[in-house]
Amino acid sequence: IPVAPFDYLVFGGSGDLSMRKLLPALYFRDHDGQLSEGSRIILASRGDQSTEELVPRVREAIGKHVAAEFINDDIWRRFVGRLTYLSLDATAERGWDNLVHLLQDQPDRIRVFYLATAPDLFGDICRNLARHNLITPQARVVLEKPIGHDLASARHINEAVGSVFAEHQIFRIDHYLGKEAVQNLLALRFANSLFETLWNRTAIDHVQITVAETIGVESRGGYYDKSGALRDMVQNHLLQLLCLVAMDSPSSLRADDVRDEKLKVLRALKPITAETVGMVTVRGQYRGGAIGGASVAGYLDDLGEPTSDTETFVALKAEVASWRWAGVPFYLRTGKRLPERVSEIVVQFRPVSLNIFPAEAGLFSANRLVIRLQPDEGIKLELVSKDPGPGGLRLRNSALNLSYAEAFKIRFPEAYERLLMDVVRGNATLFMRRDEVEAAWSWVEPILDGWSRTGQAPKPYTSGTWGPSSAIALIERDGRTWHDEP
Ligand code: BG6
Repeated sequence: IPVAPFDYLVFGGSGDLSMRKLLPALYFRDHDGQLSEGSRIILASRGDQSTEELVPRVREAIGKHVAAEFINDDIWRRFVGRLTYLSLDATAERGWDNLVHLLQDQPDRIRVFYLATAPDLFGDICRNLARHNLITPQARVVLEKPIGHDLASARHINEAVGSVFAEHQIFRIDHYLGKEAVQNLLALRFANSLFETLWNRTAIDHVQITVAETIGVESRGGYYDKSGALRDMVQNHLLQLLCLVAMDSPSSLRADDVRDEKLKVLRALKPITAETVGMVTVRGQYRGGAIGGASVAGYLDDLGEPTSDTETFVALKAEVASWRWAGVPFYLRTGKRLPERVSEIVVQFRPVSLNIFPAEAGLFSANRLVIRLQPDEGIKLELVSKDPGPGGLRLRNSALNLSYAEAFKIRFPEAYERLLMDVVRGNATLFMRRDEVEAAWSWVEPILDGWSRTGQAPKPYTSGTWGPSSAIALIERDGRTWHDEP
């Protein structure tokens, strides 16, 4: 179903995110007939080039990020007809009159201002939008992460944006919330009665959330070295996943109902302080090694610096202090240059209270629910069954396996496709509210402080391994193991 006609204005429009994610996502939506006639995409940045000069770069990006079967001349022509490039200085006067001129013929249309720039420009851009009277009731603003680098800077950005946009017009993006399997988590938890009575400390032993990447910092060293894995991944993506696993049922899927429940989880996270940080967190930094047979350089070489105190890996043990979860650890880990690209949530149930089977039946594991977010999205429920056939009663672990690719033979939209259209529809359910972002920083900041106060430096790990050995010790100390540790 096509969405209402819109003008999508991307600040940082010729940058990496725009080329890699936003334009391919908009192209796919156009391909599927979701963009109404007349909808426009305006790419703004400081550079001095014409639309004609930018188009070949966009074509190249689409060619790289969209499978050939989805590219055809008619759709490409229609898509390119929507594009305009605008040279503009976000912090000064230059170019703003041209923007006003461009938008003025459609004053009532939905306007999306997508800020794909460094966050320190967010305030200036918003002030300029207001000064030029571009913020109509139909306008929305999208903020890319990171929203700040600590609580104070996040508040500062939220104040600046909030002084010109109402909260319902602000869409703080966390692209993990747009992933198919992440949304399916809502369906799994709240459309199946099976799990709810078991979804608590009585039945669940612990939860693991892993987001492993094989890539290194690539060309983003400048940003990444100031950020690190805790800020780049845990503060947003991993905590959002934790919220979806741990939250109580919202009373509806309305944005504020869902966000209220997530906020309660964030506020219930037990603080990690300088006293505990060394016990419950591990930092790592990758060294050279090999992944899938190919050798790769270490972080410092990728960065081109002799030293760095930035972590490219974090493992930590979190706890949600609520009646539902008291005493149930949530083990989180994320890192770059790990052996495989895999994101998953593992819910480990408690073992049976009494094993009535004779020793010959063999050992068997407790039930486990594995929610695979990427790649190969799916859900696996590990059960114990009898080894079929004659002979004695022998038990074995088996699984109920729902593979999305096999069950639903369609292409899943990329996270950005769904989220960009949700902005046009004004549906903020999959976006973060101001208080959520600030609550997440409130929990993360003491970890950062703890690291600096106690001098906890990142431990080296070889690329292609699962992080420093202390990450394995973190969970094994509690008598547990990471899922699928080789
Ligand atoms: C981004 C981080 O938010 O998420 C990157 O800044 C990371 O460092 C990326 O690589 C991972 O996203 P995905 O969708 O590839 O898992």
